[in-house]
Amino acid sequence: MRFHIMTLFPEIFNSYMNESIMKRAVEKGIIEVNIYNIRDFSNNKHKKVDDYPFGGGAGMVMTPQPIYDTYKHIIDTHNIKEPRVVYLTPKGKTHNQTIASDMSKLDDVILLCGHYEGIDQRIIDLIVTDEISIGDYVLTGGELPALILIDSISRLISGVLNQDESFEEESFSNDLLEYPHYTRPREFMEMTVPDVLLSGNHKKIEEWRNDESVRITKERRPDLYKKACK
Ligand code: ADE
Repeated sequence: MRFHIMTLFPEIFNSYMNESIMKRAVEKGIIEVNIYNIRDFSNNKHKKVDDYPFGGGAGMVMTPQPIYDTYKHIIDTHNIKEPRVVYLTPKGKTHNQTIASDMSKLDDVILLCGHYEGIDQRIIDLIVTDEISIGDYVLTGGELPALILIDSISRLISGVLNQDESFEEESFSNDLLEYPHYTRPREFMEMTVPDVLLSGNHKKIEEWRNDESVRITKERRPDLYKKACK
């Protein structure tokens, strides 16, 4: 799967993509991450990428030309026929595990990171297919949300996680939050591990984990619990 990122701050992506599971996925060739600096595509002699909003108001707006030319370059060089272009914005649909799972089946995803007050609406009307928010709060730009999308999508692609890191039992996979985990030592600061986990009785362990999942979900996320009961 190929991610193509349109951004004014390409450096932001390097450190995250060069560590741990993301790095391994890139090295294995399971994912590819191409980063494009929108400023490089500006026709303006000063490489300007923003301007004052028509109608007045606070802040600057990203102009359409550099974004459109970056987009055109991406779809032409990679021969992308039906581009999925995700614009990261607090106005978008809230990201979740189902969206991540659906997107993990695509060959190419183009991510558009905004800055300043936003981007010219005509770019959204012209090229954007999906608007996604990562939650009800406002960030300074779309770069962190883009990384969150890439991470949440990539780990669902076959071969990215190894057996130990499997996502079969994790939170949201069955609309329940995950049960608590314990490892060595058996006692830490006078706190012990639940006996059942040391019992070797796999059926009992499974029951305990399921009960804990249900208890935690009911307590913390009644909305999810309702969904799980359906
Ligand atoms: N850009 C700024 N804030 C954002 C958010 N919450 N989600 C996605 N993109 C954003």
